[in-house]
Amino acid sequence: MTMRIALLGATGGIGGHVLAWALSEGHDVHVLARRPELLARQPQLPARSAGPPARSAGPPARSAGPLAPAEGGRVLAAGRQIPAADTPALGRLTVTAGDSLDPGSVAEVVAGADAVFSALGPRGPRSTRTPSLLAESAANLVAGMDRAGVGRLINVSAAGAFITGDPDTGALIKAIIPRVFAAAFADVREMEAAIRASNLSWTLVRPTRLVNHPATGRYRVRADYPPPGGRKVSRADVAHFMALALTQDAWLHAAPALAY
Ligand SMILES: NC(=O)c1ccc[n+]([C@@H]2O[C@H](COP(=O)([O-])OP(=O)(O)OC[C@H]3O[C@@H](n4cnc5c(N)ncnc54)[C@H](OP(=O)(O)O)[C@@H]3O)[C@@H](O)[C@H]2O)c1
Repeated sequence: MTMRIALLGATGGIGGHVLAWALSEGHDVHVLARRPELLARQPQLPARSAGPPARSAGPPARSAGPLAPAEGGRVLAAGRQIPAADTPALGRLTVTAGDSLDPGSVAEVVAGADAVFSALGPRGPRSTRTPSLLAESAANLVAGMDRAGVGRLINVSAAGAFITGDPDTGALIKAIIPRVFAAAFADVREMEAAIRASNLSWTLVRPTRLVNHPATGRYRVRADYPPPGGRKVSRADVAHFMALALTQDAWLHAAPALAY
């Protein structure tokens, strides 16, 4: 069944994999991007590759055959809508240029969606970052989705922001990591609090340290805290899990942590 998916963070690592998966599954995707032209650089996008890379980003069970690589290439640029006329097997991509800190832009992108994915993350030099990016964006998502009557949200969080509560994490790591990433983790926790306080059907996906390996589809998942000994997971596998979570009720109102 094809769906209408809203996606924040599509120009990023995890978000790029989510985008590639969603389009390859034939979903209609509405993306919010500050700089839509960066979408053309996403190496995971089927249209830009020689082979079917999105297959590794999507759940294997749902990729029964090889995904059709795009013929001729898709033009990705700022604009309202980019129909995939040359790639009938792929979903349509709509791009809204805007910032997740702007409530109106977020509301526009989530309106009419069956599900919303957010893989936002702070970028650029610390001096130019908004310390509350994730919390403010989450508040905008909750308000926009509430208003539009959209219920399902699959949102990237971070396992590290919660390790002080993990009975299986050593005291040394608990003492160091939260200090090093104090500001970033505070934003993550506020983001989670805003989403948990909402009426949405949320899943807060908590990766351990992100790496850029290809998707394996083989990672461990544990509620709230990383699987014992788990330290890292690839962005592609996080996207893989997010795609699976869309079709499974098991992770509704839950915070699954991912690691190999
Ligand atoms: N690094 C780790 O080891 C680690 C571990 C666990 C969890 N995480 C979490 O994982 C998340 C995603 O990681 P990632 O590596 O996939 O992220 P990433 O590659 O840095 O991508 C971040 C995305 O957010 C977008 N974004 C940032 N500010 C925005 C704004 N104001 N408006 C609209 N879009 C905005 C970026 O767009 P632009 O292209 O416009 O910048 C980009 O698409 C982060 O939230 C991070 O906290 C990270």
